[in-house]
Amino acid sequence: MNVSEIRTKYLEFFRAHGHAIVPSAPLVPQNDPTTLFTGSGMQPILPYLLGEPHPKGSRIVDSQKVFRAQDIEEVGDNRHTTFFEMLGNWSFGDYFKRDQLTWCFEFLTKEIGLDPSRLYVTVFIGDEENSVPRDTESAEIWKELFKSKGIEAHDVSIGSEADGYEKGMQSGRIFYYDAKKNWWSRVGEPANMPPGEPGGPDSEVFYDFGIPHDPKYGNECHPNCDCGRFLEICNSVFMQYIKKEDGSFAHLPKANVDFGGGLERIAAAACGNPDVFATDVFADMIALLEHMSGKSYSDSAYTRSFRIVADHIRAATFMLGDGVKPANTDRGYVLRRVIRRASQHAQKLGLSADNANDSALALSSIIVIEKYKQQYPELATEQAYESIKEEIWKEELQFAHTLGQGIKEFERIATANVSGDDAYTLFTTYGFPFEMTQELASERGMRVDEKRFRMLMDKHQELSRSGSEQKFKGGLADASAATTRLHTAHHLLLKALQQVLGNHVKQRGSNITQERLRIDFSHGQKMTKEQLAKVEDIVNRKINEELPVIRSTLPKEEAEKIGAEHEFGAKYPDRVSVYSIGPHDATEEDPKFAHALSIEFCGGPHVENTREIGEGRTFKIQKEEAVAAGIRRIKAILT
Ligand code: ALA
Repeated sequence: MNVSEIRTKYLEFFRAHGHAIVPSAPLVPQNDPTTLFTGSGMQPILPYLLGEPHPKGSRIVDSQKVFRAQDIEEVGDNRHTTFFEMLGNWSFGDYFKRDQLTWCFEFLTKEIGLDPSRLYVTVFIGDEENSVPRDTESAEIWKELFKSKGIEAHDVSIGSEADGYEKGMQSGRIFYYDAKKNWWSRVGEPANMPPGEPGGPDSEVFYDFGIPHDPKYGNECHPNCDCGRFLEICNSVFMQYIKKEDGSFAHLPKANVDFGGGLERIAAAACGNPDVFATDVFADMIALLEHMSGKSYSDSAYTRSFRIVADHIRAATFMLGDGVKPANTDRGYVLRRVIRRASQHAQKLGLSADNANDSALALSSIIVIEKYKQQYPELATEQAYESIKEEIWKEELQFAHTLGQGIKEFERIATANVSGDDAYTLFTTYGFPFEMTQELASERGMRVDEKRFRMLMDKHQELSRSGSEQKFKGGLADASAATTRLHTAHHLLLKALQQVLGNHVKQRGSNITQERLRIDFSHGQKMTKEQLAKVEDIVNRKINEELPVIRSTLPKEEAEKIGAEHEFGAKYPDRVSVYSIGPHDATEEDPKFAHALSIEFCGGPHVENTREIGEGRTFKIQKEEAVAAGIRRIKAILT
């Protein structure tokens, strides 16, 4: 059974159960600044889970395009991909656990034909602290379902994933796990959820490939073990709670179902082969790459590179189909990165190209389009068809050019060990990645002066701070004194919001002009007048306290360790610039982070002392409003 047959069967099965089929939302989220790409099937559905009526009724079904950049490093094993299709069905206050689990089981066993004795399920163990009960209801339903197939399903209490490696299977079929495993919200377990975020217990289904347990992963095997015996294929979330301001949970107005199924993973189970890259969506692409490279996918020296090329080109094709273009920031940067990474691995396979019709990467995108165009017609408009191939080729060419220039220059300068100054020139003048310099040097038994390179990079960043566009990508319109004052006030404001509303407040976007500042931040409710007044008061007091503002550069890990704020979803280099405000005796030599009022990852510019923000001016909030579910926006001025 191929992937598109499974998709059709799924949509039709739920249509027969009263669901309206809706098209996938684009990979680029609409009116939702929380992520660069749509990262789950429920993300575009969120407003309806929170209570807004869906125009198609209370039951809907779809197959959603999803991209998860956070999994990029995992790609290369037999199961991880950055892009995938998530099958989804939703009940908005309509059916609940019994119908959902029954249909899920029926779909997997009857429609897809999976052997029920190879299915194992997990359920939520309960959370006393938050008064969320153990999900015995789901466990009982599963027992009946397995019994209908002649399988006696025993339940086993596991707890955490670590407990699983000690307790093992115990001849169980239904396994109770804690909130790290069997609770779903966009940000994970209950403790991570900000006020206003919905979530609930979930029940996952695993397919047993019957591979012997690999003790390298732990003493005993269990469904959430990573050894490869079990593959999670789908998840039914019982979305019934919302986090309140005081940290406790309330029931949502309606109890919802949010089901997510990994299409390629279900296909892998249907084929009885745990390698998702063996499914038909990748197989044609891999066959082309084998043909063009003369290398074999089954040769373990190359398997990983084949997978990375196949996954990344599929992801790039879908991004380009949704209008993303390679660039140095945001989505464009992620696209650039996946194409360049695919290109690097194509080189490992010995593939190179002189033109678009000769490029394995560009040709692979055509295979992707052919495979998906019926379900996703946006890939196959006359314009998309040509431009996707062209964009991939152009990026590949540009990358090859960058590397070529850099290698030539490297050969010229690298007669002995590589100095930090040379590595710096390679990077700034030729765009040659530092990692490549290191790689080439180590091939030749040379060393690179990394310390000096980093030092020069820091200086470079500082110099380019005035004037270059890059520098202001933190949301600043310019570097005028008025903008700079508002920028420092922005840091004070974030801190004040955290003090008044709680530590769940994180920056989700910012924009600063000479006239006003704007901040988007995570918070579930409209702020009250009192809260707004308190926040204003804190900011004004801190301005008047005349606190020093200090810039430091340090390794990213260290900055994270001292708790420096960074924007959700933003990317940062290995060394980062950090601005801290206060205490009074803080200096550049000794910033006294432990006593600072605010510390943020930030490229500046800022005033040197908060007194410069004041000088007769007062900080004032003009507007507080919602921009997306769980995200508020404040506009403020200095008057
Ligand atoms: N929203 C759930 C998930 O992504 C179904 O796993």
